[in-house]
Amino acid sequence: MLINLNVNKEVRAKNIERCREKGILLPTFKQMVDPSTVPEDVKAKLSHVGLWDLDKSNLFRITWKNEPTKTGGTFGGVNYIEVPHELTGVKARILALVGKWFPTGAHKVGATYGCLAPALVSGNFDSVNQQAVWPSTGNYCRGGAYNSALLGCKSIAILPEEMSQERFAWLKTVAGEIIATPGCESNVKEIFDKCHELDAERGAHIVIFNQFEEFGNYLWHYTVTGGSILEVLEKDEQVAAQNVRGFVSATGSGGTLAAGDALKDKYPHLKIAASEALQCPTLLRNGFGGHRIEGIGDKHVPWVHNVKNTDMVIAVDDQDCMDVYRLFNEPTGIEYLKKMGVCEEDIKNLPLYGISGIGNVLAAIKMAKYYEMEEDDVIFTVLTDSSEMYTSRLAEQNEIQGAFDEYAAVRALAGCLHHQSIDGALELTYYERLRVHNLKYYTWVEQQGKTYEEINAQWYDKNYWKQIPAYADKIDAMIEEFNKEVLAK
Ligand SMILES: Cc1ncc(COP(=O)(O)O)c(C=O)c1O
Repeated sequence: MLINLNVNKEVRAKNIERCREKGILLPTFKQMVDPSTVPEDVKAKLSHVGLWDLDKSNLFRITWKNEPTKTGGTFGGVNYIEVPHELTGVKARILALVGKWFPTGAHKVGATYGCLAPALVSGNFDSVNQQAVWPSTGNYCRGGAYNSALLGCKSIAILPEEMSQERFAWLKTVAGEIIATPGCESNVKEIFDKCHELDAERGAHIVIFNQFEEFGNYLWHYTVTGGSILEVLEKDEQVAAQNVRGFVSATGSGGTLAAGDALKDKYPHLKIAASEALQCPTLLRNGFGGHRIEGIGDKHVPWVHNVKNTDMVIAVDDQDCMDVYRLFNEPTGIEYLKKMGVCEEDIKNLPLYGISGIGNVLAAIKMAKYYEMEEDDVIFTVLTDSSEMYTSRLAEQNEIQGAFDEYAAVRALAGCLHHQSIDGALELTYYERLRVHNLKYYTWVEQQGKTYEEINAQWYDKNYWKQIPAYADKIDAMIEEFNKEVLAK
């Protein structure tokens, strides 16, 4: 069973009792894909609740369809934008889902729910007596701590000490406990070591929701992120579904890439590209290294990455991401973009791009160039969070590089966007995919206790990945039953 749905009746009953006391209802996967089905009384409540408030009704805002407002919004269409040609310099259309409008301002809050909800409704996590542990380099631990707080349970966030000040400052207001591990973005081994240490010390008092191996992460992105992109494709008259050519996502845990699997199941000609930092080229060159694209690239291949379905690896220079981040956020950069014809609406959208979102756009530009895509061709990607998560990086870059003047703006638009090359883009052959898959062995079988049989099943068993999407309906049925019992006297 890739997601443990074996029921522990006693713990499940405790979780029901706890939710009853606190008046908590859980959203289903169906509701996250289509929140128009959320009960009217929840919608009415949301119209008075801020997007990031620690309010239980915000569990129903775990969807790509929140109204784009900081407070009081209900639901509309999928939040996405088109990255304008004035920025990309390519003919193909690059469409990006917008993560800013999730509670916590980042899409990974969804993946944490995908891991937590099955454990709650099956009784494999005891919300009264256990702490939920959220190891991550990025927004996953923020989302996990947030969802734990909404559910009134205790949490531990684990993240590397060099993550942005904004992340730590906010986490302090939400997580029960924060553990900073040595190093930067790519130091995931240190996070795993800390998890083992906690496990040895606290054993039955904690449950570790490790996004790199939890299929709830894959499932949430397959169903909700993938489902939302499919809806854009099929509903938006401007987008001809048959012209969808690519899906690009940088891999942190590899969860978001599952949305590509959902698209490819429906449009088999589509190419999936996994991107990473050039400074830590694990997929491209079995490489390692530190880099500054927070949330991605951790010197290993995540267990939940369906490598056999990945068509391309694209390495993006982290300096390009930093320079484009400055271009989009420094007043001189914004003025320059206006002069270069970027329209008012696209200027207003610039704060929607966080650093890894910019990396995704750069990788999409590389993909469009690599496959010589034309005007009708469409690539989807994700703006995982937004610029507000990284503003301290502006002052830091000014220190390192000097003030951002118009020369810097010219260089960033021309050098990092328009002239982005196809360097670091590798179309994977069968054996290159196998090489990437084989890298999993060292992390997962040697270090983290996965079996030889399962790593082989990931590659050879045709049903291994195909069985996962069906869990959504099973979990939904369990959530509905759980909610019914919460509401029963
Ligand atoms: C800012 C940011 N970008 C990208 C990612 C990568 O997403 P995934 O872990 O689904 O591969 C994360 C993951 O937490 C993130 O926080």
